[in-house]
Amino acid sequence: MIKVKVPATSANIGPGFDCLGVALNLYNTFYFEEIEKGLDIQGCCEEFSNENNLIYTSMKKCFERIGYNFKGIRIIIEDDIPLSRGLGSSAACIVGGVIGANEIAGKVLSKEEILKLAVEIEGHPDNVAPAIFGGMTVAIQDEDNIHYSKINVAKGLKFYAMIPDFTLSTKESRAVLPKEIPYKDGVFNVGRVALLITALTNGEFHLLKTSCDDKLHQIYRGKLIQDFDRIKEKCEEFGSLGMFLSGAGPTLMALDEDKNSKFYDDIKGFLKTLDNKWEVKPLDIDFSGAMVL
Ligand code: HSE
Repeated sequence: MIKVKVPATSANIGPGFDCLGVALNLYNTFYFEEIEKGLDIQGCCEEFSNENNLIYTSMKKCFERIGYNFKGIRIIIEDDIPLSRGLGSSAACIVGGVIGANEIAGKVLSKEEILKLAVEIEGHPDNVAPAIFGGMTVAIQDEDNIHYSKINVAKGLKFYAMIPDFTLSTKESRAVLPKEIPYKDGVFNVGRVALLITALTNGEFHLLKTSCDDKLHQIYRGKLIQDFDRIKEKCEEFGSLGMFLSGAGPTLMALDEDKNSKFYDDIKGFLKTLDNKWEVKPLDIDFSGAMVL
């Protein structure tokens, strides 16, 4: 059996809408095997155990691209990445499926070709690139080409994923975005995303609070998440370095120095007082990306 482990990802990182993303040490593991016929999916609920399963449809697209005629497929799923929470569970399924199929077909596609196909399936590159390559990445699509670059994030940063018990689909979360934005909002984001990248690489963590601000998506999406503003305020009060919406939400991500363990206790205590249930997961950057084991 082929075993593929894919990390969770947090996309956008505030102002880097649809282009920035980071891989984190929370994983889905997939096992793949070609069988005589049919489809056998184990380890997920009945709703997803069929031909529409995203891992399977991604495998089929990869087989088509390579020109490999498969007989049947068995997929076993061990998923730790929560679904529809803004932590890249769809990207993990797509990347896992494409890599699994590529292995079965004899490792035909390069990592770059895997990226291109996975972006075609997902629609944007910000989760897919870090899921494949690990670390923090900038990735953009230019017509048919995907350009990406890794960001060398300075040491000492901890990510705190605040994950609620409710879901929010990317479709729903994109539906609230405007068709056009004021010119000054574009300028607002360009400056902040540039500052964010230099602050992260230079270890100038005091600049993160301002540089995580955004006017392209968070101001619209924040309204879909009960207590978004209160949690943001509390993160600041408890001394976090910055806070942003993870991907399309509803998970919120706080940044802090990894030596400050007090933030975790403080924010956990506060989240307990809210109407919805929130879990806090301290996470680190995954530097390896998807791995065939
Ligand atoms: N950049 C995407 C979004 C990530 O924010 O909609 C979710 O797929």
